[in-house]
Amino acid sequence: KLLKKTRDNIILTGFMGSGKTTVGQLLSEKYGYTFIDTDQYIEEKCGCTIAELFSKKGEAYFRQLETDTLKELNTSLTHAVLSTGGGLPLREENAVELATLGTVVYLQITPEEVISRLSGDNTRPLLAGGNPEHKVRDLLTYRTPLYERAADLTIPVTELTPEHIVEEIISKI
Ligand code: S3P
Repeated sequence: KLLKKTRDNIILTGFMGSGKTTVGQLLSEKYGYTFIDTDQYIEEKCGCTIAELFSKKGEAYFRQLETDTLKELNTSLTHAVLSTGGGLPLREENAVELATLGTVVYLQITPEEVISRLSGDNTRPLLAGGNPEHKVRDLLTYRTPLYERAADLTIPVTELTPEHIVEEIISKI
């Protein structure tokens, strides 16, 4: 795929715990770009947390907010690093929208690393209840081809610090 897109935004995708927000912030500072995180954007709009949204309105409602957010951003976004919620690129229409926004960078992580990074985390409703290890593995198995399909560039991040990931991204786009 061509990395030179007509729009100059950089979009980070990947599983929960892959570092999209941390890396996105660092990357935006390096480029002097605006930083936007779709989860933070949605939380500010609704005045509640993602976990509250899931429990009060359900996942389908949240997914629609993600799609609406992307459409809203797409009209004007430029010079921006956009970190996306882990489920956002799974919807085909969202993946199409991301491709028009700019270069999509997939931060690829192993299930073991996700499990170790997110142990004790209670902000991710999709991993709450049941066996979080099984959930991470099942979700990653299902999602991996979808993340890959939506990406211009894949960076394996398991062994890398956020600073190294930023360097990798800058050297490749
Ligand atoms: C989700 C990931 C979360 C958040 C929501 C659903 C997912 O974002 O959007 O809990 O479906 O993977 P992070 O990837 O920032 O944790």
